[in-house]
Amino acid sequence: MRIAVASDHAGFIQKQPVIDFIESLGHEVTDLGPANDDRVDYADFADKVADAVVNGDADRGVLICGTGIGMAMTADKHPGIRAAVVQTPQFAELMRAHNDGNVICLSGRFVPYALNCEIVRTFLETPFDGGRHAQRVEKIMRADSL
Ligand code: RB5
Repeated sequence: MRIAVASDHAGFIQKQPVIDFIESLGHEVTDLGPANDDRVDYADFADKVADAVVNGDADRGVLICGTGIGMAMTADKHPGIRAAVVQTPQFAELMRAHNDGNVICLSGRFVPYALNCEIVRTFLETPFDGGRHAQRVEKIMRADSL
């Protein structure tokens, strides 16, 4: 898959290692910044990844800030995006299987790199279950056309 990745300054320390990990799984990564750990606003980078997914330039997105929270709040404002903060592999599995999440938001400050890698692996490898979950996801997306 094509994966768009970005961070803010708080997530920057994990960005390149997470990119390397995603590439080691055989995926193609687009790094949407930032280029260094100078202070930036997470919303600017969440917008870049959300746009890439909505436009079809990427299949999924990975965002890293201090907590993941601001990234998720911003990305979820974009029609077509289902983003969530995830701190365990089990939540990553359910976010894919039940919610068909397409952007995962990680904490670079409170979740260690090795655990974030397992979260990302699960995010990338878990299919959407469909079935009864499909109509629920359709209801999530109703707000996009309000
Ligand atoms: C930056 O200090 C911090 O607020 C940001 O990385 C993120 O945690 C916001 O949700």
